[in-house]
Amino acid sequence: MAAHRGEWSSKLGFVFAAAGSAIGLGNIWRFPYIVGENGGAAFVFVYVFFVIAIGLPYMFAELALGRSVQRNPVGAIEAIKPGSAWKAVGYLGVITGLGILSFYGVIAGWTVGYIYKMFVGNPGNFGQFIGDPLTVIPLFAFFIIITALIVHGGVSGGIEKWSKILMPIFFILLVGLIVYSVTLDGAEKGLSFYLMPDFSKISGKTILAALGQAFFSLSLGMGLMITYGSYVSKKENLVTSAVYIALFDTLIAIMAGLVIFPALFAMGKSPEAGPTLVFVVLPELFLQMPGGLIVGALFFILLSVAALTSTISLLEVPVAYVVDEMKMSRKTVVWIVAFVAFLLGLPSALSQGASAYWSHFGWIPKRLASQDFLSQMSFIFGDFSLAFGAFVLSIFIGWVWGAKYAADEIETGSSAFSKGRQLWIFMIRYFIPVIIFLILLNLFGIF
Ligand code: TRP
Repeated sequence: MAAHRGEWSSKLGFVFAAAGSAIGLGNIWRFPYIVGENGGAAFVFVYVFFVIAIGLPYMFAELALGRSVQRNPVGAIEAIKPGSAWKAVGYLGVITGLGILSFYGVIAGWTVGYIYKMFVGNPGNFGQFIGDPLTVIPLFAFFIIITALIVHGGVSGGIEKWSKILMPIFFILLVGLIVYSVTLDGAEKGLSFYLMPDFSKISGKTILAALGQAFFSLSLGMGLMITYGSYVSKKENLVTSAVYIALFDTLIAIMAGLVIFPALFAMGKSPEAGPTLVFVVLPELFLQMPGGLIVGALFFILLSVAALTSTISLLEVPVAYVVDEMKMSRKTVVWIVAFVAFLLGLPSALSQGASAYWSHFGWIPKRLASQDFLSQMSFIFGDFSLAFGAFVLSIFIGWVWGAKYAADEIETGSSAFSKGRQLWIFMIRYFIPVIIFLILLNLFGIF
């Protein structure tokens, strides 16, 4: 591997960094509110199905392409099919990374704000907090700057180091919170909402939301796993790595729901609060819990770190592209791209009450997303663009590069893959693109 591109220093380094990318606000903040908006357990069921049947086999494909050609998404496509229009999906990935980073950084800023609120013991009014530009913009800027400082440090120096220690602590804390939450008075109603499926609640919108959330949570569909795969050595087993990543990611999301829904129903609140859900429920939970402020502060610290390992990966994709393809210095590129993400995120930061214009933006119809600019960005980049990107990339990998080459690459370092090889080839060429295509058609009201 060309020395200047860097490589993960160990197997665990890669799995932790990729799991660090996957695990983040998507699990703790986005998953519960989307479950809440989509009626609970039936959605969870569809979600888990998509993770296993589409997300995981698709993840093999992105990792294989990245490791095979050792380039960023645009460069990877260029290496396989020089001068073709397929490159556009690589650019889409780069833009999607920026788009997600822009609104994700805003929420990450809120998370940092809540560390402080827990320390002073007064969560205050959430609506007022997110509607105050003089609070949320500096917090957002702070988060982007920290992200840039770490990405600045390079692959193994920066990204790897951070993911290793803090994720296990986060896991243990979540277990403790689940125990507390499910023993609250009235918790059973929350558990049945979350775990007893009522399949009549499934609609076209629910299905797209589940698919989009699966891609979002696993960091798929924009070439992040191509980029991270490009730093993985040939000796490594891509199959077990991907299984671990998907398993941890899904486990953490399910655990977050086990904290949120019992507590939510015990407090008698509605699950349909949208993006504000966890920020309203959790602080209240911490307030009534003995010693809860310390636990709460620790929780928001760890959540900020989980968000950080995700924003690092979001920034890494556009940075890797510019560094590889324009031969600019990594250090300069990091700051330019981070600044662009910050500018792009300002409307999202202002869309929660600070500015009437951005709060009622509404390009995307109401039946698909809430009208504030942040929700609209989350729909465009966090759902639609990832599903569309995965659709095009699965066709590119399955048909243009060739499923055979992809399967050979996956098999390198994981010989047991030969048993599932034929099934996987069918999935990447037919099953995955067809299912995504149908869901996207449905989105435009074709059925
Ligand atoms: N998966 C992250 C989360 O759940 C968000 C994220 C980070 C992401 N990098 C990504 C989503 C790349 C899609 C693509 O919080």
